[in-house]
Amino acid sequence: MSGTKDAQTATLTLPDGRSTALPIVVGSEDEHAVDIRSLRQDTGYVTLDSGYMNTGATTSAITYLDGEKGILRYRGYPIEQLAEHSNFAEVSYLLIYGRLPTEVQLTEFRRQLTRHSLIHEDMLNFFGGFPPTAHPMAVLSAMVTSLSAYYPDSLDPKLLDLHITRLLSKVRTIAAFSYKKSIGQPIIYPKNALRYCGNFLHMMFAVPSEEYVISPVLEKALNQLLILHADHEQNCSTSTVRMIGSSGANPYAAVAGGILALWGPLHGGANQEVIEMLEGIRDDGGDYQKFLDDVKNKRGNRRLMGFGHRVYKNYDPRAKILKAMADEVLEHLGVDDPLLDLAKEIEAVALREDYFISKKLYPNVDFYSGILYRAMGFPTNMFTVMFAIGRLPGWIAHWREMVQDPGTKIGRPRQIYTGEGERQYVPMSER
Ligand code: CMC
Repeated sequence: MSGTKDAQTATLTLPDGRSTALPIVVGSEDEHAVDIRSLRQDTGYVTLDSGYMNTGATTSAITYLDGEKGILRYRGYPIEQLAEHSNFAEVSYLLIYGRLPTEVQLTEFRRQLTRHSLIHEDMLNFFGGFPPTAHPMAVLSAMVTSLSAYYPDSLDPKLLDLHITRLLSKVRTIAAFSYKKSIGQPIIYPKNALRYCGNFLHMMFAVPSEEYVISPVLEKALNQLLILHADHEQNCSTSTVRMIGSSGANPYAAVAGGILALWGPLHGGANQEVIEMLEGIRDDGGDYQKFLDDVKNKRGNRRLMGFGHRVYKNYDPRAKILKAMADEVLEHLGVDDPLLDLAKEIEAVALREDYFISKKLYPNVDFYSGILYRAMGFPTNMFTVMFAIGRLPGWIAHWREMVQDPGTKIGRPRQIYTGEGERQYVPMSER
């Protein structure tokens, strides 16, 4: 683990009067941390921080985010610039390898992504084993785990780049195949002439009987959406990938775990929940004020999905870009979606309400992304899969950073035990 050691230390005084000096670690954006790694050894104490509200699990050189100021940068580049000027393949390279690729490097990276876009034909049988109602996240995670059966050498350091491109390329193919299977259509194989996002659109929406023309508006929007989701430092799914990877598990297993962590409604599953919430409000007559009152009064544990964030206490910069994009893309596609108007009205009202102001709850990345995916033709249950494809380079970059760090240790938090003291076993007849 790197990070500059400050000359200063923090002193912790314990109830018995003992005190211990703890080093301060400073990040490149002047973030300060108290390094408690020697605390237990020196004092017998551990720290308690459930939900890791205030725990730096690692140092990392991949993504910088300042939740108070609404700043997000990948490898130093502001998200706004990357969303406007870059494309998903280039951003994936940037996140994983730490620098923007030269033209030669990007061409080779793209060539590798194209080369590895097929999955073993035997794997096609696996899709048939799922019920048609299976959530695509269940299928995706199982299929990514299955990839490890086909590539048992994925922990060979010499083959790291090969497995990175395999993962990036095949997850996209699996996602599209699982969609085609779920709607009972024949799968569409990738086309080598197409780029990453165009190829995905082709596999999702082409049918064998006619030529599918890729809309440049859709392709650009998809590139932007995936870029906006590509990394977010130590979030729940990325921390899961790092945790699984820290045991020495292979990258397919680690990424499959990340997919499962992402699925939850408080994390990547929120984009599906947002649309279902908006549809529910619309179907109930459109009275969003009643819905907001239920949220504020915590009736039925309701939350305004797509609002709030553990780290952002300001407008999520990704949501700002997505809101503008939603207007632009829907207009280009000629889609008039009343859910977009409803979402905007709810946002405007919520941002004036004391409840949301005092808790610093703003729209997050999931509030508008579902409306975009819907307009682009993706069914609601594919939204979280789209998030997973976007987050993939981030997961891979963190897994790679971790396995290449000689200081990595297996992730193993402590606990404070609150159960029974020692007691004697009671035979069944005496209970
Ligand atoms: N609607 C209503 N109240 C909320 C919301 C919300 N969306 N989010 C937080 N709160 C309230 C919460 O009830 C709590 O109130 P109180 O202090 O009275 O108990 C307070 O705000 C703090 O909430 P918390 O759950 O302790 O905060 P957290 O940092 O643990 O949770 C969160 C962050 C994202 C899980 C939460 O804001 C949430 O559930 N949001 C809705 C789900 C969502 O949109 N998730 C996507 C997050 S962005 C994509 C990603 O990276 O995963």
